[in-house]
Amino acid sequence: MKRRQFLKDAAWAGVLAAAAPSLAACAPKAEESKAARLAATLPYRPDGTFTLVQFTDTHYIAGDPRSARALECVKEALEGVKPDLVIHTGDIVFGKPDLESAKEILTPLAESGIPWAVALGNHDSQFGSSRDQMYSLIRSLPGCLNTEPDPAIYGCSNDAIGLEGVNGPDRVFYLFDSMDAVKLKGLGDAHCYDYIRSSQLDWYKQISVQLADGNAGEPVPALAFFHIPLREIERALLEAPNRFLVGNNCEEPCPSRVNSGLFGLFLEREDVQAVVTGHDHDCDYVLRGETGVYFIYGRFSGCDTVYNHLGREGVSDQKVSGCRVFQFRKGEPGFRTWVRLLGGEKQQVLDLI
Ligand SMILES: [Fe+2]
Repeated sequence: MKRRQFLKDAAWAGVLAAAAPSLAACAPKAEESKAARLAATLPYRPDGTFTLVQFTDTHYIAGDPRSARALECVKEALEGVKPDLVIHTGDIVFGKPDLESAKEILTPLAESGIPWAVALGNHDSQFGSSRDQMYSLIRSLPGCLNTEPDPAIYGCSNDAIGLEGVNGPDRVFYLFDSMDAVKLKGLGDAHCYDYIRSSQLDWYKQISVQLADGNAGEPVPALAFFHIPLREIERALLEAPNRFLVGNNCEEPCPSRVNSGLFGLFLEREDVQAVVTGHDHDCDYVLRGETGVYFIYGRFSGCDTVYNHLGREGVSDQKVSGCRVFQFRKGEPGFRTWVRLLGGEKQQVLDLI
């Protein structure tokens, strides 16, 4: 555990200044129009299904042979699943040249014709380029749905993507920028991951309310995607034997020390069914605690530039990368999710809600 924490924090010392926008950037977003501003509203397939692939923690370094499996993982999953949307939940890169690395690992997405978006990870602005520079490069690639950052909202990759229902969006995917690290007065030089800020909560709430208003007052079912898990996952893990947990749980979660209030807002709004993250490479589980909201880890999609120990079940000496897949059906409130390993094997097929 200590080694993993060290690897996560290795680039910590030099990033605080670049990672923390001024306080002015945290001001609540002003009221705009009554229509929810979505990055895109995507259609279901003619058969009523919609398939989403989540990649996470590719930790790609261009020119580094330790990254080969990550690129293979991304290419093979796109060909094998042929999803309708891809979301990368961050730690896209893990070294210099960082922009070239991002471009290389995201090129299969850009060339696929499939719409895609990112929620940046803590490592994505630690290797020379600022978060804005990295985000700008990503947004310039074909197929990327991420929108221009709003200076009134903390971070960059805050976006909402809808699915096209009969009378407006019938499902939404919220993407938040969980940023990198933050310096807190009381902690001195001790490490603390950043947390979702009030301006991001205001942004989410505004869209959530607008969508519900357009849906006869009923919350529009949603999944929230970001990199660093919320503190509430720790509480849900303690709820054994009443918790529901399926998947690999081989590492303690490393959330921020700060409770952002986001989870409470999800409960208040009654629309987010699952909080989907990455960050902890040796976890790929689905967990439901007493609130009923799921905590879902993606499956590590990277290679050997960073720690990773997950393999096939019962095979201890073979590390296998993969992705998580979500499938939705028009008119149905729940969803199916599973882990797909490189090569196509499915694990943990679950029908949730
Ligand atoms: Fe990571």
